[in-house]
Amino acid sequence: MGLQSWYDAHVVPRVIRKLCGSEVIMDRRAEVVPLASGRVFELGCGGGLNQRFYDPARVTAFAGIDPGAKLLDYARDEAKRRGWATDIRDGVGEDIPFASGSFDTAVCTFTLCSVADPARVLAELRRILVPGGRLLFLEHGRSPDADVARWQDRIEPLWKPLAGGCHLTRPISGSIAQAGFAVTPIGARYAPRMPRIAAWMEWGVATAPG
Ligand SMILES: C[S@@+](CC[C@H](N)C(=O)[O-])C[C@H]1O[C@@H](n2cnc3c(N)ncnc32)[C@H](O)[C@@H]1O
Repeated sequence: MGLQSWYDAHVVPRVIRKLCGSEVIMDRRAEVVPLASGRVFELGCGGGLNQRFYDPARVTAFAGIDPGAKLLDYARDEAKRRGWATDIRDGVGEDIPFASGSFDTAVCTFTLCSVADPARVLAELRRILVPGGRLLFLEHGRSPDADVARWQDRIEPLWKPLAGGCHLTRPISGSIAQAGFAVTPIGARYAPRMPRIAAWMEWGVATAPG
């Protein structure tokens, strides 16, 4: 195992659990994840940090995928602790291992920054949703402020290998709308107490065409 693979397998999952589990981020999750209902699919479910926010009275089935082995362990441990039935699989968003129209809600938090091909992932999310199904999103990405965005462009090549392939410069709501979803924003702002290059967040509900 090379140094980068060792770092990605052992260090990145712990860093993700720590940073993505900070109070300010958990407060944003609490605004988005409880909106999930029916058959729910979570993309990048590794870490399991969203599970506590699902409303068991509204969620009838839960499935998720993630390519990170350690992160999948965390997610499965969390499901065991909660004692709810889940279908958590190894997989990537570019090729989601579920049939078309299988889900009422898809949830995607802090994952579009890390996938290899966001346009393909969004097309896959549309495919697995029923017509009119909802994609709940909470992502960080390209800042609307030109000076911050310039720094994001500069820092991204150094950041990516340290942060599990996370990109700083990806547009969020714009790319979701471009994939054919109707986006209803809930919020957009910098997370406090974080460097601005990594702090711009957008969250909301995106509806697949009916
Ligand atoms: C910053 S972490 C966020 C984890 C979790 N979604 C959360 O909100 O805490 C990024 C996640 O994206 C996952 N990931 C990376 N590439 C992916 C891909 N192509 N498809 C699906 N998930 C991917 C990583 O394994 C990791 O779990």
